[in-house]
Amino acid sequence: MGRPFFKREKRMKRLLIEDIGLLATPLGSAAQKGPAQGNIQLLKDAWILIEDGLVASLGTGDAPKCDAVRINADGKLVTPGLVDAHTHLIFGGWRQNELGMKLHGVSYLEILAQGGGILSTVKATREATGEELFEKAREALDEMLGLGVTTVEAKSGYGLDLETELKQLRVIQKLNEEHAVDLAATFLGAHALPVEYKEDRDGYLRLLCEKVIPAVAEEKLAEFCDVFCETGVFTAEESRRILECGKRYGLIPKIHADEIDPIGGSQLTAEVGAISAEHLIVCPPDGIEAMAKAGTVACCLPATSFYLGSTYAPVREMIKSGVPVALASDFNPGSCPSLNLQFVMNLGCLRYRMTPEEVLTAVTLNGAAAIARADRIGSLEVGKQADLVIWEAPDLDYICYRMGSNLVKTVIKKGIVERG
Ligand code: NIG
Ligand code: FE
Repeated sequence: MGRPFFKREKRMKRLLIEDIGLLATPLGSAAQKGPAQGNIQLLKDAWILIEDGLVASLGTGDAPKCDAVRINADGKLVTPGLVDAHTHLIFGGWRQNELGMKLHGVSYLEILAQGGGILSTVKATREATGEELFEKAREALDEMLGLGVTTVEAKSGYGLDLETELKQLRVIQKLNEEHAVDLAATFLGAHALPVEYKEDRDGYLRLLCEKVIPAVAEEKLAEFCDVFCETGVFTAEESRRILECGKRYGLIPKIHADEIDPIGGSQLTAEVGAISAEHLIVCPPDGIEAMAKAGTVACCLPATSFYLGSTYAPVREMIKSGVPVALASDFNPGSCPSLNLQFVMNLGCLRYRMTPEEVLTAVTLNGAAAIARADRIGSLEVGKQADLVIWEAPDLDYICYRMGSNLVKTVIKKGIVERG
């Protein structure tokens, strides 16, 4: 009985990808910034040997003759698996009813102030069971994997009470155990002020600091702590209070900053030592300076600008100032109902004026750095995890140009063919 299983196991241990037309990857174990963001390694006529889920060796020319399962890449492009470093993956319901309001000119913050927006998703998420949330997020993750995404950051923030925040984070934990895609969990209890605390802001902040954050840390349910620092949501001072409290419990700070109004979020990154700042649509020059100084990754979300019909983050200025830029989807039911990171790559080129090389770094290595995983994923180098995509494309320009199609041919996660 044991024997065939053992053989099969052994065979699966080595995988050789051969006949790669172009292997495109950033290099290194840290975020790349400035000119280095666009400085990627391009190997023609390449191969990659994978052992035990890791890149064992790679090179150009004749592939090594060894006992391995072989996959022919048919002369196509291979890149690292994509990293989506910012999503609100776990939520009940959808908000297609807001589309009409949007079209009639009601703004995102007005919808929220009327008790809709995030607060209506909070209601749906509180009502959903853990199993329902799991099933729904699993389907989304399946779709993401098919689009070339092999690692996803996922936030809580639609519970805004102890029980539902923990319910969301436990769903993330279970998905991480059971799904091929790896997840990184972020606690976002400060996503909005829940209706029951409408008249008691301080009470809600105390609830987060005294009850919810300690419980999240106790169960080891999150690595990061995020806040929505925005007009009508949380001030910079309140955001600081939450993030400092998260730090005391070992949670690494992230900030939703300068999405709609620049109220000090990007400047706060340096003060609290945030690993990343998110959105940054209206990031002012001193915010860029603060991020450059602190080495914060700017996690920019162009599909949200597209959906909100707003302006686009000043990404060229960020790159010029030495801020490493990551691009992510921001998948959520309100401001970005798309989980398509390939579309985000198109927008990175067409709206941020990034080069395809800068875009690749943004959705691989810099995305990995935004979730503290650049030592393991985000590039194809010996010793790194064998997460990669074989594209139905000859080069990077083609991916950034053929908007609207899914160009994935094969997705390999930890050396296992998951799609294709
Ligand atoms: O990143 N800005 C705050 N949070 C999300 C939107 C969440 C929602 O509208 O449900 C964002 O855009
Ligand atoms: Fe977000």
